Amino acid sequence: MKNMDIDSHVRGESVYVDDIPVREETLYGAVFDSPIPHGILRHLDVSEAERVDGVTKIITAKDIPGENQIGIIMSDEPLFAEDMVHYSGQPIALVLAESEKRARTASRKICAEIDPLPPLTDPRTAADQGQFITPPRTFCLGNTEAAWHTCDYVFEGCAETGGQEHLYIETQSAYVYPTEKDGIRIFSSNQSPTVVQKAAARVLNIPMHRVEVNVSRIGGAFGGKESQGTAWAVMAALAAFTVGKAVKLVLNRHDDMRMTGKRHPYASDYRIGLSKDYGITAYEVSFYQNAGAFADLSPAVLERTLFHATNSYFIPNVRATAYSCRTNLPPNTAMRGFGGPQGMFVMEAAIARSAEALGVDASVIQRKNLLRQGEEFPYGQKANRSQAIRCWTKAGKRYNVGAIRKHVEAFNAENRLHKKGIAFMPICFGISFTKIHMNQAGALVHIYQDGSVAVSTGATEMGQGVNTKMVQVAAHVLSISTERVKIETTNTTRVANTSPTAASVNADMNGKAVEKACLVLLNRLKGFAGKELGHGARAAGEWIEIKDERVYDKGIKTDLVWEDLVMRAHLERVDLSEHAFYATPGIHFDPKTEKGNPFAYHVYGTAITVATVDCLRGTYEIDAVHVVHDFGNSMNPIIDKGQTEGGIVQGIGWMTMEELCYSDDGRLLSDTMSTYKVPDMYSAPKELNVHFHETQGSPLALFRSKAVGEPSFMYGIGSYFAIRNAIRAARPEKEVPLTAPMTPERVLLSLYDATRQAKENS
Ligand code: MTE
Ligand code: MOS
Repeated sequence: MKNMDIDSHVRGESVYVDDIPVREETLYGAVFDSPIPHGILRHLDVSEAERVDGVTKIITAKDIPGENQIGIIMSDEPLFAEDMVHYSGQPIALVLAESEKRARTASRKICAEIDPLPPLTDPRTAADQGQFITPPRTFCLGNTEAAWHTCDYVFEGCAETGGQEHLYIETQSAYVYPTEKDGIRIFSSNQSPTVVQKAAARVLNIPMHRVEVNVSRIGGAFGGKESQGTAWAVMAALAAFTVGKAVKLVLNRHDDMRMTGKRHPYASDYRIGLSKDYGITAYEVSFYQNAGAFADLSPAVLERTLFHATNSYFIPNVRATAYSCRTNLPPNTAMRGFGGPQGMFVMEAAIARSAEALGVDASVIQRKNLLRQGEEFPYGQKANRSQAIRCWTKAGKRYNVGAIRKHVEAFNAENRLHKKGIAFMPICFGISFTKIHMNQAGALVHIYQDGSVAVSTGATEMGQGVNTKMVQVAAHVLSISTERVKIETTNTTRVANTSPTAASVNADMNGKAVEKACLVLLNRLKGFAGKELGHGARAAGEWIEIKDERVYDKGIKTDLVWEDLVMRAHLERVDLSEHAFYATPGIHFDPKTEKGNPFAYHVYGTAITVATVDCLRGTYEIDAVHVVHDFGNSMNPIIDKGQTEGGIVQGIGWMTMEELCYSDDGRLLSDTMSTYKVPDMYSAPKELNVHFHETQGSPLALFRSKAVGEPSFMYGIGSYFAIRNAIRAARPEKEVPLTAPMTPERVLLSLYDATRQAKENS
């Protein structure tokens, strides 16, 4: 089944928050934010702004009837700054006016008197000053201290990765109006309807049942709307609540880039020990996460970094420690991979550095240490049905890696100004929220009298195709046409206490809930049909089957079709609605020992990346990415392939061209689309092959079809090392720092000795 939104997307008919027809007298909001990254807020002068024509009210912390607090994991984040500002872009006030333009004009006339304090932007400096969001955490396996003596080789160094802007197409948006009896209805572009509901209730000091949150669809999120859609929705709710009118707040691109948090930049130190035959005996790593000013989701992101610190390798002695460092940047947040990519990059960097020092190809070390069946992760879980070696071997054979290598070598021998590099990137990604309690989902299924079906779940559709998969589930279980199934918006009044649509688990969890609800309805209808066809009341359904919208009795086709069955059931007062709940079984984790079985299953795969570097210009092209990916038993190959390809290109962007630049005083300099470059057609791989490695999947995956949202992102790491290998082909003797992104500027700095060049020039 193709993505059910395709037609309306292509015609521009899909409705996003900004497309909702507004009510009469709707007011528009513009956010006034801190111009500096750190300081004491002495005074706010709004008098001139208030005089702007069409301005209704300027909302600040003083207007909050409840708590000025929207923190999701820790209560450390005010909705509006009160006494202090902690990052450039931190909201201080919301201007309400009759038009967006007037609201913006007025917001520029607000004057904040702020005594500046020195800002922190670097996580290592923050750590030196003891600025931590949470106490550090350490995952251990074996005993690294004892293991170092047994290693034949030991290498150590640093590795750094940059942040990443989500650049969802739809910017942060909310539209809110008051409902009767002091209620509020919020339309929001948001991955976490319940988080918004809870935060709005807290700020407005009303019970959650007076707040309704509705998400029709999201114009892309990539983690950027898991926690960070909340502030705008709650601001609009507070405004609507205060003035009793509808309020719309849509950030423009520039404000969105400036005010919202991004993927966490990390600085890391590693130490790796190997045996003569390249087995990795010991690995120690310290991660310094740049969390930004508030906790946001940082502790959870940090946790996933630890979970993925050894990627898809088995290492008997591991010690991984992670520090969440408080800086004066916007609070960094979830982004595709959720800290996993940052952890895996350091592992790959340590392997690359070892390989370079030992004069072997990194793939020799990678291959040697791939996870086998039953081997233990540092968090205690054992690899079950590991596909690591199978995917690796299959990729090598399928794409004829020997021939690729020969081609690369021949090319490099012939060319002086262009060099090619090749890199393998195996991945292993755990599927489940690492907070066990979040692994729950609900679904509500109605069969209407005419046989049409409406499904509500806790999942939000952000382009990843979860709604299409929900249609497939309902249609398959009830054995009816997909045309009969409609997916409703995600609404807190229909499915309550939803987990965020994140961690790639939403088709699995919400799909299992839909499956459960539909099975109950199916059995109820079968029982009813059995009775109608003259079987005794007890176990009447046993003889009945519903296939392709028709009732079969003891395997024999009857005249009873779906529509008639439903109508007759209704007339006989059979309940045609069902709510079901799913909680992932068998997962647990003990934060005291940092051990457990946190993941329902793992997703594996291998990518082979080839890149060509122009050694004169520092530019590069990704020639090819060849992938063998473990989809389990894919229930929707079109969607799954799209997710995989999209993740790869986004991962390549993070590793190569996307570079966030901050001024020394913590202002984002790359705050527009002309200064922040994301991959386009030309920077996408010239060739992108995704081979479906079909396996038994996992019984905890929906229809044994494994989760696809995030895992492929990490293949992008291969592009970094392919470019690095091309650079090394040109300058084998040069030490290239393990710093990402590998922008063309960095390529040049890696190829040429800047100081020598400067001397020669002078
Ligand atoms: N695909 C599109 N088109 N747009 C998105 O915003 N988000 C990604 C991934 N794929 C995203 C996407 C992220 S970060 C996650 S966690 C998953 O989708 C969430 O959806 P799922 O659990 O249904 O896979
Ligand atoms: Mo995805 S980063 O878990 O929203």
